[in-house]
Formats: sequence, structure tokens, C-alpha cells
Amino acid sequence: MNYKIITSTFLCLAIIGSFGIYKVFANQNKEVNMDNKKVLVAYYSHSGNTKAVAEKIQNLTGGDIFEITPKTAYPKDYNAVVEQARKEKSDNVLPELADNGNVKDYDIIFLGTPVWWYTMAGPVRTFLKENDFTGKVIAPFCTHGGGGESSTYIDVQKLAPNAKILNGYTSYENSAKDNDIKVWINGLKF
Ligand SMILES: Cc1cc2nc3c(=O)[nH]c(=O)nc-3n(C[C@H](O)[C@H](O)[C@H](O)COP(=O)(O)O)c2cc1C
Repeated sequence: MNYKIITSTFLCLAIIGSFGIYKVFANQNKEVNMDNKKVLVAYYSHSGNTKAVAEKIQNLTGGDIFEITPKTAYPKDYNAVVEQARKEKSDNVLPELADNGNVKDYDIIFLGTPVWWYTMAGPVRTFLKENDFTGKVIAPFCTHGGGGESSTYIDVQKLAPNAKILNGYTSYENSAKDNDIKVWINGLKF
């Protein structure tokens, strides 16, 4: 009887132990460890730089990807888009989106934007306003043309006051590197 109890206890401990060791090794083999969290990568991009970063993040995390798309596309012409964005910012306009998206099924939202006039682009403002980020974790990222992130991440927190905003990843134009993104994600404290 005692022998049976000892054997089954030993077997149980061995199974639990092996599972623990398996988990440690499984996590070590992944490039980034998302701890089984449900991940969404949502981004807006006008000329492709932020899109490229979003796709790298999606590849690394295996999350779902959502392109934030304004109902009416911005002009391709640089001066025209700069002027429209300037006016939208000063008039506090929230440009309508083709689809507001949905963050409710996700734990962590990687949120990407180009820096427009020292902050996030208008469509990203709308995305934050139109979704409920209560209890969500946002890992913001942005690309810029030389001025850095400016107020982008501070403004993300202002528009999603009930979310936890993690350190952002900032890169110049199309200079983002896979390895830097990996290091950033692995340094985040979810
Ligand atoms: C309307 C507009 C405003 C911009 N404002 C800034 C800015 O305030 N600071 C900055 O460093 N770059 C600024 N840029 C440059 C973009 O942030 C940069 O080119 C970015 O990588 C573009 O990302 P995208 O290719 O994903 O659209 C601006 C570009 C545009 C079109």
C-alpha cells in the first residue's frame, strides 16, 4: 500500500517536473516570449514605414494584424497630406475609419503610427477613441522623420487612460531592425 502511494506520488512529481522543464525549453526556443497572451498588432501607415515594423512584430509574436484604414484615404502628395494633417490636429478632428476594429478579444495591443505633427496620426486617435482599452496593455511603436516620438506615447496614454502603456519602440523612417524589435519586446513587462 505504502509502496503504491510512494510510486504514484513519485510519478505525479515526475510528470509535473517534466512539464515545467518542457515549458522552460519551449519558451527559450521562441524568439520572443508572449507568455500565451492574445496579441493584436494594429497600425496606421501612410507611406509604408510603420507597416514594415508592424509586420516584423506580427512575425515575431504570431499575433493578429489589423491595418487602421481611414474611410477616405489621405492624399499621396506630401505637401497635401502635411497640410491636411496639420488642420485635423488643430481642429481636433477624428477622421472616420473604414472599420473601427475590435480589441476586446486581446490582452496586448501593439499600436503603431507614423509621427504626424509631433504626435500620432489622426486615424490612430480615432482607433483609440472608438475602442474600449480598459484593462488592456498597449505596447506603442512609431516611425518618424527625425524628430523622434515627440508626444506620441504620452498622447496614447491620454486617449486610453484605463490602459497600461508600456515602453514604446521608436525608429527613424525605415531603419527598424528585427533584432532591436526582438530586444524591445523581450524587455517589456506585461
Ligand atoms: C503629415 C506628416 C507629418 C509629419 N510630422 C512629423 C513630425 O512631427 N516629426 C517627425 O519626426 N516626422 C514627421 N513626419 C515624417 C513621418 O513621421 C515619417 O516619414 C514616418 O516614417 C512615416 O511613416 P509611414 O511610412 O508609416 O507613413 C511627418 C510626415 C507626414 C506625412
